Amino acid sequence: MMNLTLKIWRQKNAKDKGSMVDYQVSGISPDMSFLEMLDILNNQLIEKGESPVAFDHDCREGICGMCSLYINGEAHGPDRRVTTCQLHMRKFKDGDTIYIEPFRAKGFPIIKDLVVDRGAFDRIQHSGGFISVNTSGNTQDANSIPISKHDADKAMDAATCIGCGACVASCKNSSAMLFVSAKVSQYALLPQGKVEATERVLNMVQQMDEEGFGNCTNTGACEVECPKGISLENIARMNREFLKASLKP
Ligand code: SF4
Ligand code: FES
Repeated sequence: MMNLTLKIWRQKNAKDKGSMVDYQVSGISPDMSFLEMLDILNNQLIEKGESPVAFDHDCREGICGMCSLYINGEAHGPDRRVTTCQLHMRKFKDGDTIYIEPFRAKGFPIIKDLVVDRGAFDRIQHSGGFISVNTSGNTQDANSIPISKHDADKAMDAATCIGCGACVASCKNSSAMLFVSAKVSQYALLPQGKVEATERVLNMVQQMDEEGFGNCTNTGACEVECPKGISLENIARMNREFLKASLKP
């Protein structure tokens, strides 16, 4: 069992200045997840009549992208290809001090403690992250449209993005290019996505800029910290799609 010192960002609301606060937790098993460790801390705080630490979570199995914590200076902590809910306490040692902060970016305003508003990602998705399909009964069977294995695999890889925002939090420019490029790529590679390809990339990039995310300067921190291993090649593909769309008369 481990005893740990936690330094956690506490902020009452969006307007509060916020600060790091020290906590001690004991009896932490290496087999617990990071969120279970925070559950134990919160139980201790509630028993003492103190306010529990607010943090986001939902599926707790790496699917929903809600658990957005910056742990010891890394989005989703020290492990690779995992979300915070999949991070195990065995990655830490007895006596460690762990710094826990929210994802920080202009496009992700803090709501409370470790909870940020990632509504900007929803608005980017709404601006073009979909295809329009006629469902009147005349819809063509998807299996009757041949797609090469290479394209299907690349589209599926891009579609594994869970919208967690680690790419933004890790980027010195708070760029959302990896996220947006994954959403553009998953359709750009498929025949079903070609119909609305021009408007999609133009609208999504415009919305991304309006939300206050920075530009990409090819640092690559996003790819390293992405729990789903979304590749930088998607950004190159989005740039090509954007150029093609911009040159259309
Ligand atoms: S690209 Fe990766 S880091 Fe960015 S939102 Fe998608 S899954 Fe998260
Ligand atoms: S809680 Fe859903 S990905 Fe972590």
